[in-house]
Amino acid sequence: MLEQLNTLRKEFEEASAKVSSASDLENLRIKFLAKNGSVTMLFEELKNVSKEDKPVVGKNLNELKNFCQSVFAELKEKYESAPDSSGRVLDLTLPGREVLTGKKHIIIKTMDEIKSIFKRMGFSVYDGPEAESDYNNFEALNFPADHPARDMQDTFFINQKFLLRTHTSPVQVRVMQNQQPPVRAIMPGKVFRNEDINARSYCLFHQVEGLAVDTDITFAELKGTLFAFAKEFYGSNIKYRFRSSFFPFTEPSAEMDITCYLCNGKGCRICKHSGWLEILGCGMVDPNVFKSVGYDEEKYTGYAFGMGIERIALLKYGIDDIRLLFENDTRFLRQF
Ligand code: DAH
Repeated sequence: MLEQLNTLRKEFEEASAKVSSASDLENLRIKFLAKNGSVTMLFEELKNVSKEDKPVVGKNLNELKNFCQSVFAELKEKYESAPDSSGRVLDLTLPGREVLTGKKHIIIKTMDEIKSIFKRMGFSVYDGPEAESDYNNFEALNFPADHPARDMQDTFFINQKFLLRTHTSPVQVRVMQNQQPPVRAIMPGKVFRNEDINARSYCLFHQVEGLAVDTDITFAELKGTLFAFAKEFYGSNIKYRFRSSFFPFTEPSAEMDITCYLCNGKGCRICKHSGWLEILGCGMVDPNVFKSVGYDEEKYTGYAFGMGIERIALLKYGIDDIRLLFENDTRFLRQF
């Protein structure tokens, strides 16, 4: 029996030296250490050993078993948690980690959708600076000197001559100063107003401005273009209406409403039970604006429009607090 133990030990040593993978190791375990493995089986045979020999054989057998188990444990450590080339231990049984990719903020997404619709209708996209001159923001746009929008309440002034633009309309002025008609342009961007911050208003928001100037632009073209946009953006079932309004830089001026796309015009909490949602301001470019940019106001006519993006995005995604759009809490933004 002692001889058998020695042979088995040699056999185990040889077999364990050849182990080079986790599956080799499993085979080693099955052959020697599992329930029917040769080392385990020897314990069965201990019954047949004479009383005198039993203590010695038993001791040797235990030693063999401990030896085999410690070699096995060492190999197990090596093959089941082998460090990769960077020294990290790789556990293939762990669930994978979620990879978070960045995505567009819903304001940018909404602006991109609006831009792409107007681009398909032949409009170019222009940019302007967020810090503007008082001249471009107000004066060139025919704001009388005492217009309330010039009040310190609404405008963040940088100094006497410069301010943070309160709307994207000054980009119209820049486009016209740099280019002769025909013009068909949209101008998206950030605007700033010195307003109380609450669920409905914020000191910063986004607008998309539009401008078309040529020799024979009519109010009918304004209506046709804006209705085509609204159908594309809000759905072909909507109806629209124009209400007369006032802006210093357009004459006549109007506001465009569409039937509430949440209740189909029946009236709900969002449209304050009127069935209508106001979506933009617009009008025919005032001849005084043409004069201030050096366009011949006898020769050219044009229309302009401007819409706020936050309102559109809040309605579209059913969000009831504008501040959420600016806090950049990824737990909120990730939902969309
Ligand atoms: N600038 C206006 C505002 O901020 C929006 C606007 C109205 C723009 C009429 C226009 C327009 O170009 O024609 O409230």
